[in-house]
Parts: sequence; C-alpha cells; structure tokens
Amino acid sequence: MFKKIVVLAALVSLFSFAAAAQDAKPKLIAIKAGSLIDTVNGRVLKDQVIIIEGERIKAVGPGLAIPEGADVIDLSNMTVLPGLSDAHVHISGDPTQGIRSRSTLSGVQLATTSHVFARRTLFAGFTTVRDLGSIEFVSLALKRAIDAGSVAGPRMLVANYYIGATGSPADIGGGSPLTGSKLPPEMTGVADGPDAIRQKVRWNIRLGADVIKFGASSGVLSDEKVVGVAKYTQEEMDALVDESTRLGVKVAAHSHGTDAIKMAVKAGVASIEHGSLIDDEGIRMMKQRGTYLSADIYVSDYILSEYSKRGVEEIVLQKERVVGQKQRENFKKAVEAGVKIAFGTDAGVYPHGMNGKQFAYMVQWGMTPMAAIQAATVNNADLFGMSDQIGSITAGKFADIIAVEGDPIANIKLLEDVKFVMKGGTVYKGAARR
Ligand code: ARG
Repeated sequence: MFKKIVVLAALVSLFSFAAAAQDAKPKLIAIKAGSLIDTVNGRVLKDQVIIIEGERIKAVGPGLAIPEGADVIDLSNMTVLPGLSDAHVHISGDPTQGIRSRSTLSGVQLATTSHVFARRTLFAGFTTVRDLGSIEFVSLALKRAIDAGSVAGPRMLVANYYIGATGSPADIGGGSPLTGSKLPPEMTGVADGPDAIRQKVRWNIRLGADVIKFGASSGVLSDEKVVGVAKYTQEEMDALVDESTRLGVKVAAHSHGTDAIKMAVKAGVASIEHGSLIDDEGIRMMKQRGTYLSADIYVSDYILSEYSKRGVEEIVLQKERVVGQKQRENFKKAVEAGVKIAFGTDAGVYPHGMNGKQFAYMVQWGMTPMAAIQAATVNNADLFGMSDQIGSITAGKFADIIAVEGDPIANIKLLEDVKFVMKGGTVYKGAARR
C-alpha cells in the first residue's frame, strides 16, 4: 500500500515540478499534521496546518484556512518533524569499497556512486548534511548538482579537503606511503606549520569550503598505530582556527584524544567530532565555551561487526575497541554536564541512509528523545550557521519537512523509517494527497 503511495507521490512531484516551471506564481501546499514536533520549544503540537509557498514555509498553526488552489497533503495520522540533519558525513565514502575508499579511489569513481548515496540520505529524512572531507572536490560538485536540481540529495555544507599534519588522518590518498601517492601533495589537505596551514585553509575556502575540518588527533581508520595522539601543536591549531574564523568559516576538529580535544577547544573550534576520550576538564571547557560535541556513537557497532568480516586490518579493530565503548560513556557524561550536542554520525564509514540509527544510541546514552531530535534539528542548524533557514517548522524557513508513522517521542526508532520527505517544498517520498 505504501509503495503505491510512494510511486504516486513521485509522479505527482515530477508533475508538479514541471507545472511549477511553467507557472510563475509559487505553488501553494498545505500539510495537515496530526502531530508536529516543535523543536524550538521541545513540545509536541496537535492538529497543525503548515502552509508552504514555493520552497519556504509561509505559516504554521492550528486550524489555518487552506488557501484556494493549494495542494493538500494529509499527514493527519502521522508525526511531522522538520527535516533532519547530520553534522558528520562523508557522502563519497562507501564501506563496501574498503575503509579508505573516499581517498584511495579516484574522484571520477567516487562521483559515479556519491549521488546515489546523497539520494539515500535524503530519502532517510536527512535534508541537510555537513560533508567533513572528500577528495578532488567530489562533494562540492555534488552539492552544486543538488542545488541546481539535477540530482536528488540533501542540502550540503562541504569541507572539501580534510586538513591535517603529515601522518595525520588527513594524510591519505595524496601523500601516504601506505595508500600510494596518486595526487600531487598540493592537491591534498596535508599542511605542517602555521604558515602552510593558513595557506591550506585559504586554498580550501577559495575553492568553496563551507566548513574547515582538521585532524586534531590520530584516528581509528587512518594509518596510525595509536588512536588519540595530538597531531598538531597548540600553535598550529590556533593558526588554523584563527585563519578560518577570520574568513568567516567555522571549524570542525576530528579528535578522539583527551589532550587534542582540549587543544582544539582552546583554539576555538565550533565542534569536536568523535570526542571519544574526553575528560572532565574537557567537558567543562566545552560547556563553558559552547563548543558542540558531534559524537558518532552508533558507528562502532558497525565497524566491529562488519569490518572484521571484510578483512580490515586487526590494528584498526583494536583501535576501535579502545575508543568505541569509552566514547559512549563519555558522551553520557557530556550530556549530563550540559554540553551542547550536535547530531553527527560519520555516514560513509557505515552505509548511507542508516543515519537515523544513531538516535536510539543517543537516547540509550543519556538523552531524552526530544533532546536527540533537537540535536539533529535546531542544534545542528545553529552549528551550521543556518538557524534562520532550517531546524524547525517555522514561517520563513525552508519547507524541509518529514513525517513518521507513530510517536517518535515514545519510540525513537521510528526515525529509522521516515515515511514522508519534502525538501524545499518538493516532495521526494510518500504523500497521500487529495
Ligand atoms: N573516522 C573516524 C576515525 O577514523 C571513525 C571513528 C569511528 N569510531 C568511533 N568509535 N566513533 O577515527
């Protein structure tokens, strides 16, 4: 039954897309929402009407009159939410092609599959993502194709090249003796010393980076023996964040390590990615400075169960065993201490489209379902600098709207099965119309 509706909706949206092109006036849509999650106030509202004009929300409230000529989408037996977002994906990553696929395959190879992953992500209800590292500007090209309407996918913020020291997690695909040198060094994110780092930040931003990502500590999947070692000096991190911030671009720091986390927070990053071995002092610093924690607390299960079957080096699994469980325990401490939590999953390390799986882990490790939903909506919107565009169903924002069957506050796992997806006023998945 649902399949039929999906096909119908796809046809309807194709048709309405064509119709909108001929029609200068922006199309009006009215959504009847049985329940609506108000992410700004952390409440569930009943029987709301959302009026959409073109790509934006025009009005939302109980019992609003349905404008004449508006298409009506009846979600009165569903729970409606703002589109979800993921602060940490690698849309070009494909675990079935090897754990370092996004740096060892060519950009052309990655481009042939990345658009499929973008579509899967969107269809899972994720209407905005932050891509924290790709090579050869694959994600930038994809973002542009999505914005132009040629490819179905989420809104994207892209980091372009992941920046880091020689021998850091950024040192892949271009300069690592272990993965082979297929790109000239200037076409990688490797930079050592404050001046070279500043130059690399400028280059990345010059070429379209919306966010700067760097490797503050060693990682799990990268060619390093120990996870969590600081890979830049304080002076280097300060230079990187100073340069990027001055150019108006926020910084995300990959950091598992206790000291590296504090160094990055001190330098002024907007988010700590992973945060696995954070200590009480690090938690206090993040809370005090308002640094977001974007902890990918689902992916460990995938790595430990699936990667071993695929013959991934034992050292990688060993590093994962060091951080996986600790990361969850420390995440809980950070939540309890009131650190700001973003929703970031490292999709691409596990298959795209399963992003919603992390909600249940966040609830298991200390968050209320509402807070977990807020992490993936209003909090991420704030981290992305997009609070006026996304994150809630509010007049003036993009009509990025999803729905699930049932009550996700009672059963957070419903967010693993999103039934309706609208992005920018266009329906991509599942709508019963009349
Ligand atoms: N990209 C990360 C790294 O290589 C993945 C870490 C996954 N493990 C985890 N427990 N979050 O370090």
